[in-house]
Amino acid sequence: MTALPAVQMRVSPADCDPLGHIAQDRFVSLFERALWDALGQGPGMDVFARHGASPVVRRSAAEYYAAAPPGSTLEFSATLTHLGRTSLTLQQTARRLPDHQLVAETESVFVCLGADGQPVPVPDQIRGVFGARPSVRAGSVKHLLVNGVATAVDVQGDGLAVLFIHGFPLDRTVWRYLIAPLTGRRRIVPDLRGLGLSDAPETGYSIAQYADDMATMLRLLDVERAVVCGLSMGGYVALDMWRRHRERIAGLILINSRSEADGPAARDARDEMITMVERDGTQALADLLVPKLLAPESQTTMPQVVERVRTMIESAPPAGVIGALRAMKDREDATALLPTIDVPTLVIAGREDQLIPVDHARSMAAEIPGAQFTLIPGAGHLAPIEQPVPTSRVIGEFLDALA
Ligand code: MLT
Repeated sequence: MTALPAVQMRVSPADCDPLGHIAQDRFVSLFERALWDALGQGPGMDVFARHGASPVVRRSAAEYYAAAPPGSTLEFSATLTHLGRTSLTLQQTARRLPDHQLVAETESVFVCLGADGQPVPVPDQIRGVFGARPSVRAGSVKHLLVNGVATAVDVQGDGLAVLFIHGFPLDRTVWRYLIAPLTGRRRIVPDLRGLGLSDAPETGYSIAQYADDMATMLRLLDVERAVVCGLSMGGYVALDMWRRHRERIAGLILINSRSEADGPAARDARDEMITMVERDGTQALADLLVPKLLAPESQTTMPQVVERVRTMIESAPPAGVIGALRAMKDREDATALLPTIDVPTLVIAGREDQLIPVDHARSMAAEIPGAQFTLIPGAGHLAPIEQPVPTSRVIGEFLDALA
């Protein structure tokens, strides 16, 4: 979490292009100014220098979502999303006031340099400025006590409720770019217990428990029925919600997922992963999983996606990761449930998915009466983060047909 205050700035005509939208170079400088203002209002603009380190931007990427004409007021917030030994990643958002529409977002990696220009460890005092546990857009996240566990959830917008359940060992931020265009819906985006910003108890993990958590969360949010969209392990949870809480489900979207339980080889592989995380931590897990989760092409052409997936895995609490591995290892087979699904269903597969073959996903769709099947080119096992635009479009069309 971050201790940096939010900063408001007014858009002047000089910031805008001839069409009346903020020009890209101005945006970059507004983000930069906002960061210095936030440091000035918080720990002091010289907080880095005081501790013998200068932050230098190594990489920065921006996404633009909505217009901000002259005269509008933008609120800038900064959140630490990754803290390395010598580097830190900050996410900054600009929201238009008063409606808090997300206008633009940047993710920047800073490396700390000492007086001799060489990288130096991020000073402990800087870690204190941002809080101990990095998070993504923590400002928009609230915590609900769900079946005894403080569970983080980001709720955006109004309209048809859609619950987005992330995969393993990820968190709610895997949906960030996919959900941004899905305006006009109530997007409910939790971190499953043990992952992201949710608390990570030592025990109490199973796919059924996650499904119960999601049903409880809907009740706490006063949502009678929602379209439930699950990515991979999130799909296992969605299918278990169908088993246990189908009265809450208005539609299903299963992305890069499957209905079968683990066979003996998969169960052994889960045990090996548990041992690895206990022994070597989540960094080793990231080394193992990133090449499998992302399509080979994503790994070479999308360094930011690689970095984000790696960061999610590395910052996942080990207790939650181990809990999820045990939950998946012991999950019930859901194949017999498929013909009973009588709500609109969309199955999405990544053409380059190395973990769940396309034919598998296609046959799962064929067993669900009336299910729609879509293949996303250029996506591996994580279509929502590798190909957010086409994946979001397909989901948007599916949701439009439900409304
Ligand atoms: C996931 O992406 O959630 C996992 O790959 C699912 C699994 O390991 O079965």
